[in-house]
Amino acid sequence: MKRRSRVLSHTALSEKNFPRCFTLISTAMLALCLACGHDDMRDQPSWKPQESEVLLPADSISTAGLEKSVAETEEFTRLVNPIPPAESSVNKGKVLFERFCVPCHGIEAKGGGMMAAHFGEPPSLSDPSNLQLPDGFFYSAMRHGRGLMPELAEALLPEERWHVINYLRRLQSNDK
Ligand code: HEC
Repeated sequence: MKRRSRVLSHTALSEKNFPRCFTLISTAMLALCLACGHDDMRDQPSWKPQESEVLLPADSISTAGLEKSVAETEEFTRLVNPIPPAESSVNKGKVLFERFCVPCHGIEAKGGGMMAAHFGEPPSLSDPSNLQLPDGFFYSAMRHGRGLMPELAEALLPEERWHVINYLRRLQSNDK
């Protein structure tokens, strides 16, 4: 009985002292932090939201392939279609268009494809006003993607892209 009460009183004592000890230690730590005046933990080299882009050191090697420059994309729009718009090319282009473009651009290339809701509604490709756009513009869209449109570089061979363009030109002139 006597022993038990000693244990109890010991516990009671340390519990009583705990808040005082805690205050003392935390005040000391706070004083230490203030004295140092560092916020190193916050100031890390990582890229924070809204911060301007951190440029990679020169000569660093990309792990995600090379970023294409705007100039390169513009250069593509100056490409000249090497494949004449013969019936055979237009027909090949139709098949390819239906396979790779219709899901978003719709069967008549006017938009409204099944996938359009997920990628955003694309503008009409068959509108006659598109005849003014250079062939390379369409080529570049397929090669590099454009805005919300993903690139289809691996879906179509360069030659196949020109067939698609010959087919699109047919649609655009039929729409007149
Ligand atoms: C996954 C959906 C998707 C597929 C597949 C797709 N497109 Fe697109 N495309 C879009 C969207 C969305 C836009 C509008 C992009 C923007 O302005 O942000 C677009 C825009 C374009 C434009 C630019 C039109 C303009 O006037 O600005 C061209 C050209 C084009 N697509 C051609 C094609 C061709 C050709 C194919 C097939 C080889 C194709 N696209 C396949 C979604 C797609």
